[in-house]
Amino acid sequence: GAENGGGEISVLVTGGAGYIGTHTAVRLLEKGHEVTVVDNFHNSVPEALDRVRLIAGPALSSHLHFIPGDLKSKDDLEKVFAAKRYDAVVHFAGLKAVGESVAHPQMYYENNVVGTINLYAAMTKYGCKKIVFSSSATVYGSPEKTPCVEDSSLNAVSPYGSTKLVLENYFRQVQAADPELRVIMLRYFNPIGAHRSGDIGEDPKGIPNNLLPYIQQVAVGRRPELNVYGVDYPTRDGTAIRDYIHVVDLADGHIAALEKLFATPDIGCVAYNLGTGRGTTVLEVVKAFEEASGKKIPIKICPRRPGDSTAVYASTEKAKKELGWSAQFGIEDMCRDQWNWARKNPYGYSGNAEEN
Ligand code: NAD
Ligand code: WQD
Repeated sequence: GAENGGGEISVLVTGGAGYIGTHTAVRLLEKGHEVTVVDNFHNSVPEALDRVRLIAGPALSSHLHFIPGDLKSKDDLEKVFAAKRYDAVVHFAGLKAVGESVAHPQMYYENNVVGTINLYAAMTKYGCKKIVFSSSATVYGSPEKTPCVEDSSLNAVSPYGSTKLVLENYFRQVQAADPELRVIMLRYFNPIGAHRSGDIGEDPKGIPNNLLPYIQQVAVGRRPELNVYGVDYPTRDGTAIRDYIHVVDLADGHIAALEKLFATPDIGCVAYNLGTGRGTTVLEVVKAFEEASGKKIPIKICPRRPGDSTAVYASTEKAKKELGWSAQFGIEDMCRDQWNWARKNPYGYSGNAEEN
């Protein structure tokens, strides 16, 4: 009985072993909810869920369940939904590397689009009517004006971005045909940082694509220097501007979204930005990380990275007004917590230089 968001609910978290999923699972457990994770460990490891249990403690950990599964498989999803009743789904499972999506578009559409279509089919069969979906600021394409407002025109510049755009349209259309369905699509800006404990964090396989994981690996001595992609942007120091947001703030945004879904029967399908509204340049991030870590981050100036925009940051008004959510942490907090995770886990969850 979970029609009001006040009580404990049973939540299915797809991709719950990943970076944002683990942080959200911790928050859901702390709120007293029942959490079931489905993941195929394509981009994560079982150890990440052990760390979630460690942070939550023995009592709350008994509310965390794991079912191995791949959303590309209808049989796997059938097992997930037959095992338990879910009041809502938080859907993180997806591939997210922009460059990889250019090389392997088919894989991206199959995983992200087919996986989500299978998920909604299973939800429909089992009468589950609430979902929070991980969208991305990538749906704004190269924004013509900033800050990015939710009702601006959308555009994809990569196959990855196209999967998010297709899925946003998909959810709008299936919701219109299924009025009982309640959908919130959260457009994350640039999630960074880690849980305060330093026990969970981002642990990319191979060479990191994103700025903070790369800086972190330079700081712990795994890579000699950071490539700075472009110092000729029309910004205050020539480097590109992004809206970095603490992953714990992001996790709280999912709690707020779930509460909104439970409280709003006629919500339909709505998109919200999750960002801070503040823009930070690449060189400002480097400086903040150096201050947080006490480590020098050597840089190498490189040409612009194809597809990058000058400045991308969020309008935060809609999430503040309708979800009652706004980011609490600043770039110093993000770098401090990222460094704490790096320091405690210089080789990620495996702890092993060979595997990385
Ligand atoms: P992540 O790779 O750390 O987590 C995703 C998880 O989903 C992984 O554990 C992976 O193994 C799992 N997964 C992928 N495909 C699956 C499948 N077919 N079946 C079962 N499990 C599957 O990524 P993240 O950073 O936590 O991102 C979560 C979501 O947020 C993704 O949908 C991503 O596109 C979106 N997003 C991320 C960012 C970001 O910068 N991290 C920004 C905007 C949006
Ligand atoms: C940030 C800035 C780089 C690495 C991506 C996706 C987006 C969303 C978040 C999922 C840029 C610069 C980076 C490096 C650098 N993900 N940079 N050296 O590109 O803003 O967003 O992640 O939805 O869709 O596109 O993030 O961390 O890759 O880059 O100079 O080694 O850092 O050029 O200006 P981005 P990022």
